[in-house]
This record gives sequence, C-alpha cells and structure tokens, in this order.
Amino acid sequence: MDKILQVSWTSPSNIALIKYWGKRPVQMPMNSSISLTLSKSYTKMSIKREESINGLSLEFIFENNQNEKFKKKIYNFLTTILKDFPWLNTSKLTIESSNTFPHSSGIASSASSMSALALCLLSLDELITNYKNTTHDNFLEKASSYARLASGSACRSVVPNFGLWKKENTFAVPYNDIHPLYLTLCDSILIIDETEKIVSSSAGHGLMENHPYNEIRYNQAENNLVKLLSIMKNDNFLNFSEIVENEALSLHALMMTSTPSVILLKPESLEVILKVKEWRLQNNIPITFTIDAGPNIHLLYPERYKVIIQNYINNDLWKNKKVIHDKIGDGPRAI
Ligand code: DP6
Repeated sequence: MDKILQVSWTSPSNIALIKYWGKRPVQMPMNSSISLTLSKSYTKMSIKREESINGLSLEFIFENNQNEKFKKKIYNFLTTILKDFPWLNTSKLTIESSNTFPHSSGIASSASSMSALALCLLSLDELITNYKNTTHDNFLEKASSYARLASGSACRSVVPNFGLWKKENTFAVPYNDIHPLYLTLCDSILIIDETEKIVSSSAGHGLMENHPYNEIRYNQAENNLVKLLSIMKNDNFLNFSEIVENEALSLHALMMTSTPSVILLKPESLEVILKVKEWRLQNNIPITFTIDAGPNIHLLYPERYKVIIQNYINNDLWKNKKVIHDKIGDGPRAI
C-alpha cells in the first residue's frame, strides 16, 4: 500500500447567532450554540498522503507559501488523534490550503480550515482503511466531532444552513425546523479592522472560568437558544433581531467585564451599529447585526431586501470601504 492518495474538500466558515464562549475539557462548550453556515467564505484544502517509515511528517502550504505557524498547530492537533487514525504514524502529508477571504477579515478561518482538515482526514481514513461510513450524515457527524477537537466553532461548519451544537454533544447537527425566510439570510461583513486578533479564542474562553457572570451567561445562552429556535419557526424578524443582537452584545460585554478586560470593538463598530439601528427604524427594513470576537460587524438580512440594503451599505454606510457580501450556504463539498 505505497500508493499516493489525495483528497480535497471545500468547507465554509460560519457565524454564530448564539455564541459559544467558555469551554471545558475536551473541547466541550459550556453552553449550546447555533450558527449560520456561510457560502462564499470557505477554505479549500487538499491533503496528499504518502506512505513513510519515518513517523508522521507534515508540510503545510498556505496560499502557495510554506507556513510554519499553521504547520505546528496542525501537527500538534494530529498528534492528539493518532490513536483514532493509526495510519498517520506512517504518513508524510502535504497539506495545501487557501481561503476565499482575506486573513483576519473577521471571518473565522479556524472554523473553515479545521472543518476542511477533519473532512480530508476522514476521506483519507475511508480510502486507507476501506471502512465506509454507513451514511453521509454519519460521515459528517464524525467530521464535525474531529473539527470540534481542533477548534470548537469548526464543528458547526460541516452542517448546511444552520449548525446546532448542543452543550452535551460532541458534534453539531443541522437545524431545519425554520421558516423559509431564514434560508435566504444574507451576511454583509463590514471590515472595520483587519489587524490580527489581540486575544486567541482559547485565551478568550479561558476568561470565562473565573468570570463573575459565568453561570448567568451559560443560562442566558440556553434560554436565548430556546427562544431563538421558537422564533425561527415564524417570520418575525424583529424578534429574531432582538436575540441575535443580545448575544453579540453579551459576548462583548463579557469580554469587557473579564479580568483582564478585553475590548475588541472599535469606535467605528459602535458607529455602524447605531447608524444601522436608526436607518432600519426610519425605513422599516429587516436588518440585524452580529459580532464575532473582533471589531467587524456582520449585517444579517433576508435576501428579499438585498438590493436596497447592499445599496445602502455600498453607497452610504460603508462607502469605499471593505465589505464582503456573503450569504447562507449549504456546507462542505468534496472536490
Ligand atoms: C466568539 O471556536 O475559535 O466565535 O474552540 O478555542 O478554537 P476554540 O474557539 P473558537 O471560539 C469561537 C468563539 C466565537 C463564538 C462562536 O463562534 O460561537
């Protein structure tokens, strides 16, 4: 079995509506979360596997350049799952990866890249061990679980449309019991600042451990999830907005009230939020916002309002500035 094998996947990023913030071993969340799978913002990854007698070795090429930082991260992750994929011990892997979106653009590249990695590993596993997962769903559940071990939020990226990650589960599942309006959601990402994150996600989650509001937060997230799932059965966008914004602002409020405090929002982030609130009130337009662990603002709205909203963004709110117009997507693809 010394033939060369190659597998390739694209896997999207996602943006959380109910935020995962706080975790416990092993990579399990303190609260449930749900996210919107993106469409245009994805990682394309291929892995070439050659048999080797020298243990696991790795080459990592990110956007045509060797990348030592990512290589180390992936190597360390792979060493934690060797017992599940023993063939890794006799593998020389060449991983090539690229993103359709700029680095540090406020789109979670760990979600798309770590889910792509998990999918590629499982595809290789099927080829090498001749073990075929019984169903595609079964394959995706496993991929979600390995993606989670690499980066929590990545487990939601393998799921089309809405990925639900319950706090007791090791993988995310699709959530489909929704009004069709939500299947048309667009996400325009306003790039407020492209500089690297000042706290890693793991350090951020760590801040929740001694946070004075941690138990309150975990309950709030579960309550918000129950409310959101019920709201999404109908097309009342105002109710949807209330929960989504509460989650985004709660995430940042938690960061600001951590010790040490973390302030990721920029003055422009707040300016945009205030302007959008005023504009939607004046024009009676369904648009809401969410925010990741960074300053960039994700504007969410139904596709039916795409022309008017994108006109407003491009010609007024965010004229001549960087924006990525994305939308809900149907998950990863083998290529
Ligand atoms: C604010 O999934 O990046 O985006 O598990 O440590 O890799 P690790 O953290 P990560 O945390 C994401 C936090 C968040 C909210 C969310 O996506 O739910």
